[in-house]
Amino acid sequence: MNEILILIYGNPIAQIIRENEFLFPWVEALHVLAITLVIGSIALVDLRLIGIRGINRPISNISKELLPVTWIAFLIAAFTGAILFTSNALSYSQNFYFISKIALLALAGINMMCFQFIIGRNLESWNHYQQLPASARIAGAISLTLWISIIVCGRWIGFTLEPVLVAL
Ligand code: HEM
Repeated sequence: MNEILILIYGNPIAQIIRENEFLFPWVEALHVLAITLVIGSIALVDLRLIGIRGINRPISNISKELLPVTWIAFLIAAFTGAILFTSNALSYSQNFYFISKIALLALAGINMMCFQFIIGRNLESWNHYQQLPASARIAGAISLTLWISIIVCGRWIGFTLEPVLVAL
């Protein structure tokens, strides 16, 4: 695993990001921008699922409108995150908050898949309900908790990163 991380750390893009004082902040700014769209769009769907916001609007309309935004923003967040990761691969791979964030991202993905293909597969049938079934409200609450935790872990990475010296 260490060999792979050293290969990632040594690749030309990672070196350019590391050595250029402007690129890392710009890529991280794009990462944060994409994250705000991911979290913003998911939070609007989750708050509707829980029954806190938008209860007069059909859930399938809200979901159809926002899901494309979520997926496009997620791909940009994952791409920019991966570029940031390459610049300091060994340090990030040993950082508790980075590891936790990736684990929480996987859980959030599983929760989304469960909702998409099991709990919410007949979303239209809920359009006339103001209060949605308990399974939908629970899925919304789990999603919101996971994404807030991902943000907190993401933010703590920068405060807790330990340098790892690598001889290339
Ligand atoms: C939608 C999913 C994601 C969310 C919500 C997220 C969230 C965050 C947050 C809140 C930060 C702190 C930004 C700041 O305040 O400066 C951050 C930084 C970072 N993220 Fe993500 N992230 C996501 C996906 C990823 C992925 C997939 C990777 C890597 C494969 C990644 C790698 C990083 C790295 C390396 C940093 C920089 C930490 C630092 O040195 O400051 N992120 N992320």
